[in-house]
Amino acid sequence: MKAELQAIQAEALAALKDVKTPDMLESLRITYFGRRGKLTEVMKGMGKLSKEERPEIGKLANEVRARLTAAFEETTQTLHRQQQEQQLAAESVDITLPGRKPAYGKAHPVMQTLERIEAIFRQMGFEVVTGPDIETEYYNFDALNTPADHPARDLHDTFYLTDGHLLRTHTSPVQIRAMENQKPPVRIIVPGKCYRVDYDVSHTPMFHQVEGLLVDKHATFSELKGILTSFARQMFGDKTQMRFRPHFFPFTEPSAEVDISCAVCQGKGCRSCGGTGWVEILGAGAVDPAVFEAVNYDPDEVTGFAFGMGVERIANLQFHIPDIRTLYESDLRFLRQF
Ligand code: PHE
Repeated sequence: MKAELQAIQAEALAALKDVKTPDMLESLRITYFGRRGKLTEVMKGMGKLSKEERPEIGKLANEVRARLTAAFEETTQTLHRQQQEQQLAAESVDITLPGRKPAYGKAHPVMQTLERIEAIFRQMGFEVVTGPDIETEYYNFDALNTPADHPARDLHDTFYLTDGHLLRTHTSPVQIRAMENQKPPVRIIVPGKCYRVDYDVSHTPMFHQVEGLLVDKHATFSELKGILTSFARQMFGDKTQMRFRPHFFPFTEPSAEVDISCAVCQGKGCRSCGGTGWVEILGAGAVDPAVFEAVNYDPDEVTGFAFGMGVERIANLQFHIPDIRTLYESDLRFLRQF
């Protein structure tokens, strides 16, 4: 029995040296310490020993068990440490590598310009309101005093939908909606998308306008000029000049087209302004009495003025972009410049 114990110890210690995984260790533990394990069986046989043999063999058996228990424990620790080291090695980070640059998104140049326009008018006391892109002929044309035979209503210029609906050709219909919803005074701007059948260096089928409307007991044309001049100087600099050219819009009378001195060449004449030194940025005028009648405002009680500006046109001047279409080609090399 003594020899048997010594053999078990030697064999177990040797086997432990080859253990590589927790599974192997566990099966080895069962081989020696399990219910039918080799060491367990020997211990069970102790009862059959004679009185003389028992102390000596018992002592040896206890020693072997203690020795093996310690060896198993040590192997357990070793495996655990190895496993941790492997994990650390696998998860190690090379802190000398350069970092990944976060890709920041930015507002589209048209949106940047739109936000700036809104900020300038807000600070002059205008409220920002919006309206639907899909309009009825009534709001887009009729209520704005635009007769059925007006060329702007032509199929060639307007995207018509079904049932008398269309994609609004300007933001002016929101003038009507706003006045239907509130009593004077009105002091609003309306940013939004507009649509026309048009495509060349200065036109895209979808574009943005900012409409302005001011209605009060004594709103005057000089007030309109003051507000627009203040806007243009804040937008393009103190030296910006403005000129009002007589024009016609069905919904304003009198009407004007408004040019500013070219922000690219300071009025000297360049490609952006076609050599004239002036660039048209908006249409404006005093609200026509027929428009007031359409919204049940009394034209004898109130006066008003309105304007509508092209946002892409203004963005082009601000950022010196020669072709308006590049704004909507989604070319990142272009967009990243802003
Ligand atoms: N709606 C006109 C256009 O799109 C601009 C405008 C607005 C003119 C308000 C006068 C008053 O051209």
